Amino acid sequence: MSAHENSTAAVLELVSPDMEQVDRVIAKRLESGVPLVGEVAKYIISAGGKRLRPVLLLLTCGALGYTGAQKYTLAAVVEFIHTATLLHDDVVDESTLRRGKPTANERFGNPASVLVGDFMYSRAFQMMVDADSMQVMQTLADATNVIAEGEVLQLMNMHDASLNEDGYLRVIRSKTAKLFEASARLGAILAGSSASIQNACADYGQALGTAFQVIDDVLDYDGNASEMGKNLGDDLREGKATLPLILAMQLGSEAQRQTLREAIETGSIARLADIVTIVRDTGALEATRNAAASEAQRAIDAAMQLPDNAYRQAMVVLASELLNRRT
Ligand code: IPE
Ligand code: IPE
Ligand code: MG
Ligand code: MG
Repeated sequence: MSAHENSTAAVLELVSPDMEQVDRVIAKRLESGVPLVGEVAKYIISAGGKRLRPVLLLLTCGALGYTGAQKYTLAAVVEFIHTATLLHDDVVDESTLRRGKPTANERFGNPASVLVGDFMYSRAFQMMVDADSMQVMQTLADATNVIAEGEVLQLMNMHDASLNEDGYLRVIRSKTAKLFEASARLGAILAGSSASIQNACADYGQALGTAFQVIDDVLDYDGNASEMGKNLGDDLREGKATLPLILAMQLGSEAQRQTLREAIETGSIARLADIVTIVRDTGALEATRNAAASEAQRAIDAAMQLPDNAYRQAMVVLASELLNRRT
């Protein structure tokens, strides 16, 4: 296999004709008679984004042999749901930078962001009805509900320095992994696959989404703002105990633990540089990356239950390359 075949770029190339169709559906379904809706929605959608959840849905469709047009609609649906959660998330997190641009809340204010987020959620629900499948609706209704729960759970955990790995995992499986899981499961539902294949896809999505968020939480301390298009230190500013901090508290000295505890409890980023040093020196960043690697391996194991073809191979590549992501 050449290096290219084994890269995320090759994965994206495999689904790029499909993605063009998805982008067409996205553009068409963003239309609204209310000008501010279109303005805000287009602002965040046109800023880019990796379109990972649609990619996941398209890959599972490909792996399982579904070629119908519903995949374009549902791929747009999962991206709309994702976008709605980002509009709301940036308000909640008081974030100012997303996809390399000022966030929608920064540009248009909190009310417009919240309300257009609602528009995108409800537009997604209008669109998913097109699939005329109770299983599709069930999957997406459950996913959006769990995402909302995850965000609320995280809110309750804010400034809690005693949060452990299990508590952290519960949040990220809900707020992030659930939509990856739903996206992969939808491909299998569209393909009319057996329950066991549907579950293998769901497991793949869940593990991939978990690894994805764990790496995201590493990048909040160890990334580059211009590559990520997001600010570093946002998690700490919110007093969020993510895995790098949780593990650093386990691995560090009493003095280091005290510094971390104080930062989580106060949400002060005054000592961000010290905290970055601590998560690095204690080996917590590496341990966090290892945790992501074992989730990625779980994703690969699940993918191996699918038929052997180029799409399954792409799913494997995506999981193994995820660990190196910088954006
Ligand atoms: C951002 O998701 C939110 C997280 C789950 C960390 P992405 O990193 O997929 O965001 P875009 O769509 O590429 O901007
Ligand atoms: C992203 O969560 C929002 C959801 C998954 C609903 P975060 O707040 O952790 O991600 P970023 O860093 O803002 O993208
Ligand atoms: Mg956020
Ligand atoms: Mg958040």
